[in-house]
Amino acid sequence: HGTSKINGRGYLEIGGVEAEEIAMRYGTPVLVYDEELIRMQCRKYKEAFSKSGFSYKVSYASKAFLCKQLVKLIEEEGLALDVVSGGELYTALQADFPAERIHFHGNNKTVQEIQMGLEAHIGCFVVDNFWELELLHTLAEQRRQKVDILLRITPGIEASTHAYITTGQDDSKFGFSVKNGQALQAARIAVNQPFYNLIGVHCHIGSQIFETVGFVKAVEVMTFFFKRVQEEGHRMHVLNLGGGFGIRYNEDDGPLPIKEYIDAMIKEVEKAFHTEKDLPAIWIEPGRSIVGEAGTTLYTIGAIKEIPGVRKYISVDGGISDNIRPALYKARHEAMIANRNDEQKELVSVAGKCCESGDMLVWDILLPKVRSGDILAVSCTGAYTYAMSNNYNKMPRPAVVFISGGKVKQVIRRETYEDLLRNEL
Ligand code: LLP
Repeated sequence: HGTSKINGRGYLEIGGVEAEEIAMRYGTPVLVYDEELIRMQCRKYKEAFSKSGFSYKVSYASKAFLCKQLVKLIEEEGLALDVVSGGELYTALQADFPAERIHFHGNNKTVQEIQMGLEAHIGCFVVDNFWELELLHTLAEQRRQKVDILLRITPGIEASTHAYITTGQDDSKFGFSVKNGQALQAARIAVNQPFYNLIGVHCHIGSQIFETVGFVKAVEVMTFFFKRVQEEGHRMHVLNLGGGFGIRYNEDDGPLPIKEYIDAMIKEVEKAFHTEKDLPAIWIEPGRSIVGEAGTTLYTIGAIKEIPGVRKYISVDGGISDNIRPALYKARHEAMIANRNDEQKELVSVAGKCCESGDMLVWDILLPKVRSGDILAVSCTGAYTYAMSNNYNKMPRPAVVFISGGKVKQVIRRETYEDLLRNEL
């Protein structure tokens, strides 16, 4: 992926730096980001829209991975930023991200989080339910501050992906359903509230999606609803179609080029509106596809256990504490030995070091014959790994480094044992 390659010595190199050297310098586990690849992904989205004539906004879904350095990069690339919590908002503001480019999501924003967003004068709130519709308005009114809002709509689409990450179906904790009329009811309330400016509608059908069909169906439902609201005499200008564009974790995954997803959406939106002046702006919110393939986690191999005729386990110095995806979603990441390139391979399984049998990083993978001390690289760990990391078994979170132009920069230091006790009274 990106600038990663096997160099002349047969070793893994990321952004021009040998993985083994990074492991030695920063210790393991360490999450290595190829900054060029993140920037390339941002640009691909913008390019996909730029010639379409559509007004657009690409907003990075920061839940996939967020740190101040990344906020700066997203800012430089001209993207907007989605946040779903006070913590994400705080991080963005601390990194001086322009508030007007921040969008606030979430199905249960607290009073304190909403106040924080209002005080910062963020770009818009994506209102998820009737409770929030009332609460946000009350708080905005108290401040005499008019806010731009989008309504989160559940378009009733079942995206073909893991059940935990589909979100567009009617029986969902997110959004107002179109089918049962709640979406229209919410829109009617919103347009009558003096401190609301209902600028558009939003949907997100799921994550790690490989086909355009779900997006196309969502556009159909959303444009229909959009026009329905306009018919009542209220003009909106934003159609936010969420994120969910898939990436390639392993050879079975077949994501489409970014342009194909965008083209399919654009075509369907055009179909729904007869005159150019009626066309809404298209907003999207990719997370995984911006940072996922740019991340590689390096581990050191420790214990090697062979059960003759059954399985060979090789254990690394991390696990579900830094990448819960294999255990939680049966996600299959690829792995390789970064400092060895023997032709001869054997079938092994890679185990984490946390205390449960489910802590396996990769089942059944062909790797060269390893020795303790070798460096294992797990690819595509840029999205929803560090973001979902935890201190199970009191494991400190790994270090995070960015590589650009052959230079390595540490952006998050490894947690220490003292960090683990920081909050104890
Ligand atoms: N917008 C909304 C409203 C979302 O809920 C999400 C993801 C996104 C955008 C970004 O979706 P993406 O482009 O990253 O697919 N932890 C899971 C993924 C959960 C996705 C949650 N929502 C995983 O590791 O696969």
